[in-house]
Amino acid sequence: MNKTGFIFDLDGVIVDTAKYHYLAWRKLANELGFEFTQEQNELFKGVSRKRCLEILLEIGNIKASQEQFSRWLVEKNEDYLSLIEEMDESEILPDVLKVLQFLKKHHMPIALGSASKNARPILEKVKLMDYFDVIVDGTHVAKAKPDPEVFLIAAKQLGVPPKDCIVFEDAVAGIEAANNAGMLSIGIGDDKVLSEAKFVFANFTEIDDQFLNKLIGLTP
Ligand code: BG6
Ligand code: MG
Repeated sequence: MNKTGFIFDLDGVIVDTAKYHYLAWRKLANELGFEFTQEQNELFKGVSRKRCLEILLEIGNIKASQEQFSRWLVEKNEDYLSLIEEMDESEILPDVLKVLQFLKKHHMPIALGSASKNARPILEKVKLMDYFDVIVDGTHVAKAKPDPEVFLIAAKQLGVPPKDCIVFEDAVAGIEAANNAGMLSIGIGDDKVLSEAKFVFANFTEIDDQFLNKLIGLTP
């Protein structure tokens, strides 16, 4: 029987980093003289750092030189890194470990497919590195989600055909990327927002062994 490849997004699926990204972007917005709301932060989920800054500057109606743009990218990331400095295992979202342990027990190939350039240090902080056979992050991809690139690279490195891969994602752009890759998409979050996903769960506590057995092909 062919193996199923499991690909996890990081931010919003394994850890709730959106709140830290928000604080760092809000600080920059405030320094530039405008407000940045939690609702606006929703637009940033799954979106690359560079694209987030472009959107932020559109919101603030601010024009930047190349040099300023690069400086603000660095500044935001430094603030973000200081906010996540103390992050540890307690920030792993509920029942993520249960699912990872189930997949490991059944020898399923597991990859990370994230837009973040900070993915590795975050996995190290929350001590999950050992679960992942493959890590594809923002340092490896040229095209951002909803382009399927990140997931296609992950599938290739896992040695599993895309059609046999399953993606866990919390962002609309990520679900689109998984669908564009020809993979089975599982949304983690609001089913109204993630309506393009094949299945949606509010969080991993809603995923039981029966469903996981189905995913790995043990039961029809
Ligand atoms: C995604 C987040 O996973 O990574 C986005 O959902 C974030 O909000 C993007 O902008 C890039 O992250 P980083 O850590 O490289 O700035
Ligand atoms: Mg995400």
